Amino acid sequence: MLTSHPASRPHHAGSEEAARFSLVTRDLPDEASERTLLATGLLAVPASIAPRYFYDAVGCALFAAICELPEYYPTRTEAEIFERHRHEIAASIGHRRQLVDLGAGDCRKAEAWFAALAPRRYVAVDVAATALEHALARVASAHPAIDVAGVVTDFARSLEAGRGLDLSRDLDEGPTVFFYPGSSIGNFVPDDAVRFLRAIRGLCRDPGSALLIGVDTVKDAERLRSAYDDAAGVTAAFNRNVLNHVNRMLGTRFDPAAFGHVARYDTVHDRIEMHLEARVAQTVGVGTLARRFEAGERILTEYSYKYRPETFIAMLTRAGFATVRFWQDERGDFAVYHAN
Ligand code: AVJ
Repeated sequence: MLTSHPASRPHHAGSEEAARFSLVTRDLPDEASERTLLATGLLAVPASIAPRYFYDAVGCALFAAICELPEYYPTRTEAEIFERHRHEIAASIGHRRQLVDLGAGDCRKAEAWFAALAPRRYVAVDVAATALEHALARVASAHPAIDVAGVVTDFARSLEAGRGLDLSRDLDEGPTVFFYPGSSIGNFVPDDAVRFLRAIRGLCRDPGSALLIGVDTVKDAERLRSAYDDAAGVTAAFNRNVLNHVNRMLGTRFDPAAFGHVARYDTVHDRIEMHLEARVAQTVGVGTLARRFEAGERILTEYSYKYRPETFIAMLTRAGFATVRFWQDERGDFAVYHAN
């Protein structure tokens, strides 16, 4: 699917020239197949909801609040590593690259690199079209020297569906750096994570191309668990809110208050698991079917895998990257890898 959108939205408020950027939509699943997939997950035993459904408007706001929580260390630890080692990391990557931001959001994490990296082109990829368009209008006018492009797609979904990571039409020739911060890779099971890394490696055609990725580490189980079960209950609200999104998508009548937030750390798989646990037995209509949940039955909403540096380096190697450098904070709570 290609919706061409020559998105130069003139902003006549200021005296500056309208900021120009391109914006295209690629390979978004149609709503019917999204609904089918979601319903299938709910009817399955055990039931599951993919973590991408967390991010409706309320969910995005709740996630932003999570990033500020005292218990949720990943965002601020990654920012600390980036700040402390910015120039060394940038020197390792090199200047004038095409910078591809995977899951760009408001583009601010990538923008913090513009001064150090001096990218010649910035390609922001995200599934949220409206937010991306707004962010790119801002980025384009703040950085007129950079060629700014946006791609609306759900690359995780495309990969899951076996269609690969098709950004080839949206990338220029020349060295490219892929930016994937925030330990978002933790949502993939390890085999899919390697598939994803291999797909990125496949797009690193020109010498000087690389991946810059932030990944959460294995640590004390109770610290990990509390990062996903904060005292203020923000993560619990974030978890339950997925049911509001599901209700809007499927016309179901889940009562979020009828489900408890469960976050546990699985030391065998090195992953956080988030679930919604039925407080009482209940039946919810899903399309023409009825799904009964027994009291205590759980819906899986998220895996968040944690990786020791040696494990993650081995995955990068399996994916075809030859050289890896990495940086950590003093406690080893988080890691940032530059692989090429
Ligand atoms: C956005 C997937 C990196 O796994 O830590 C935060 C999402 N879920 N709190 C994570 C999340 C609950 C987050 N990622």
